[in-house]
Amino acid sequence: MDTAIQEKVHSTFPRLNQPAPTFEVETTHGTLRLEDFQGSWVILFSHPADFTPVCTTEFVAFAQIAPELKRRGVELLGLSIDSTYSHIAWVRNIEKNFDVKIPFPIIADLNKDVATLYGMVMPGESKTETSRCVFVIDPKGLIRAMIYYPLTTGRNTQEILRLIDALQTSDKHSVATPANWKPGEKVIVPPPKTTEEAEIRMTAGYETPDWYFSKKSL
Ligand code: BEZ
Repeated sequence: MDTAIQEKVHSTFPRLNQPAPTFEVETTHGTLRLEDFQGSWVILFSHPADFTPVCTTEFVAFAQIAPELKRRGVELLGLSIDSTYSHIAWVRNIEKNFDVKIPFPIIADLNKDVATLYGMVMPGESKTETSRCVFVIDPKGLIRAMIYYPLTTGRNTQEILRLIDALQTSDKHSVATPANWKPGEKVIVPPPKTTEEAEIRMTAGYETPDWYFSKKSL
């Protein structure tokens, strides 16, 4: 790819800890702007298309974790390259067939504005559908996590909940979380940055098998 184009793609695509690209969109809950969510966490997620089976299972699963997300101050915002009429018909169909109400707005991104801004269309997969993307945006409007799944694989909403718990725990306690961490388990104390700190760390009272690796309970 031409270097100038490459730079443009890289500077415009979303990056961790950078401001989430803003938008004003039509949704199933009316016109919304990303700024309307300022002060809340937001999970902006795309699905390939309405009235498709894997997406239907995902919508049921997202609706099921919506109350847990609300308790954590997180708003859900869905998106696909479909019309508002299609979204309305599909959520009504989900309620009829699965007895599940979809409580969150869904963006009708028919002209792919938001999909393009966030790099949700992967031409290698499909030129007309968004892949299964998840963008976690914090209350300051910064992108804190991104997940991309292919068309054929439904997402694990428990993992998304775990990710929110991990991010909020890291922010609150200035710690990191180990592989497969769950709330209530020990967290990682950031490694020392100087030889002096490394020396002190060995007697700091944490679980420290070696100077760079300390865990503690919260
Ligand atoms: C589905 O949601 O079932 C689906 C959508 C696009 C491609 C493959 C599966």
